[in-house]
Amino acid sequence: FQRGKLLLPLLLLSPLAFAANDTLPPYTDGSGHAVQSPYDYQRVGTNGPMLLQDFHFIDLMSHFVRERIPERVVHAKGSGAHGYFQVTRDITNLTMAAPFSDGVGTQVPLTMRFSTVAGEAGSPDTNRDPRGFAIKMRTSKGIWDWVFNNTPVFFVRDPTKFPLFIHSQKRDPQTNLRNATLQWDYWSQNQESIFQVMILFSDRGTPFSWAQMNGYGGHTYKWVTASGDWHYVKIRVVSEQGLNNFNATAAKQMIADNLDWNTQELESRIDSGNFPKWTVSIQTMTPEQGQNWEYDINDITKVWPVDQFPLLDVGEIVLNKNPDNWFSEIEQLSFSPANMPFGAEPSNDPVLQGRLFAYADAARHRLGPNHMEIPVNCPMAVSNFQRAGYMRVDGGAGTLPPNSANYPSSFNAPVSFQARPYNLSAIADPIVGPPVVLGSFQLSKKDFEQPNVLWTTNFSDEERESLVDNVIASLLTVPIQNIQQRSLDMFACVNATLGSQIATGIKLTVSSPLSCGA
Ligand code: HEM
Repeated sequence: FQRGKLLLPLLLLSPLAFAANDTLPPYTDGSGHAVQSPYDYQRVGTNGPMLLQDFHFIDLMSHFVRERIPERVVHAKGSGAHGYFQVTRDITNLTMAAPFSDGVGTQVPLTMRFSTVAGEAGSPDTNRDPRGFAIKMRTSKGIWDWVFNNTPVFFVRDPTKFPLFIHSQKRDPQTNLRNATLQWDYWSQNQESIFQVMILFSDRGTPFSWAQMNGYGGHTYKWVTASGDWHYVKIRVVSEQGLNNFNATAAKQMIADNLDWNTQELESRIDSGNFPKWTVSIQTMTPEQGQNWEYDINDITKVWPVDQFPLLDVGEIVLNKNPDNWFSEIEQLSFSPANMPFGAEPSNDPVLQGRLFAYADAARHRLGPNHMEIPVNCPMAVSNFQRAGYMRVDGGAGTLPPNSANYPSSFNAPVSFQARPYNLSAIADPIVGPPVVLGSFQLSKKDFEQPNVLWTTNFSDEERESLVDNVIASLLTVPIQNIQQRSLDMFACVNATLGSQIATGIKLTVSSPLSCGA
């Protein structure tokens, strides 16, 4: 009824305004012709066949069978809401990016989408999975997408691994069933995933509420000031509602009770005026600190400990409006880490670099080449030389601005207003090696250090217990001992106690000697 709403003022002025009463428009086909009733169709006689000339029927049915668009290849199940981001600190000494450059107190509208990763569009909200935490900010200098997860690290640090890793989480191509054997086969042979696997199998893998999760950029980014100084930056979005998770039993029960629990919980919160809020914090490193840090700053399987790189609060996010139409405002959202304003730049993290390509490409496939024309993706004025293509619904370069087809133009073409400061920092980046290198990260003993801190220091007793129970329950469904053994040894590389507790549960012994990377 969105179109109906838009058409209403026109209809009331038009000759079609012969509705049964004065306020409601008449029912029409997609071309605006009034039809007696949506249920009518043309037949030969009372019991004869239908007619090909019945445009109303063909229009109705052919549009219906085209209602589905491809679901996202990952993060297909999700929902979201609208709200705003507010700048709470002057950080122009760190970045010239809007909205920060627009001053403390500046508010920009945003839309957020939360999601699970592996399940299909209709899958349960409370499945064990990381959660997507995507934010689209509409700044005065263009769209800034924060395409985050609710975990500070990621499973892969080489972008080429992503499709294979995702296949291990999706349905088995033969049986079409989810398959724990494939999952543990992947993780136990790509052990840089261990940090994220430990978070996933703790209760943090089953959040109670999207409002009670933190979001993390994960990657290192670069923020550049107007004078060209730059820092490495990590961003996190901390829930003001606190964290809250289901345990495995409660999460499974919720699948039976309410498949769409998280979707409904967020909707009700906002509907009742209980608006969720998050504090946006950053961690920074100078280029020299980045160069001298004990880990590779381009490795997304590592966190920056907050005692070494303290959090600086820079803004607040509030969600205060549910979508009016889920398909237009949530399903058609398309986020891309490549959408950033001046002053924010990608680091050389290869996973981030790979994502810079993948998201707009996914949007071209899912929504078409003019996906940025969809109001929720880019409601602001755009002036460029792109034109035509599927679903182009404005004048393109023909009329916006007038006569702007050439560059330079004798008429009203867009002009360059500022040299783009891109690559300033990339050229100056101290962490760049020889010209071209082919390869991927290699596993090292150091990859188990931060997971060990997670186990010994960050996790509560309860979280340690859940992790062990959940890993045992999953590994017991894996019928191949070799895979169980490799998985067990991976946990033993993190911590001997963790290893021995899992060993007892799955009735195996940790290998001796243990091999935990170079
Ligand atoms: C969704 C690719 C890593 C967070 C997606 C989509 C693709 C994709 C193709 C679907 C996009 C769409 O159809 O609109 C990749 C690749 C990665 C990667 C190739 C690594 C090489 C990550 C990481 C994070 C992340 C590290 C978080 C730090 C998300 C989120 C969504 C998403 C939140 C859902 C966005 C939405 O709500 O529409 N990813 N991804 N991804 N990804 Fe990634």
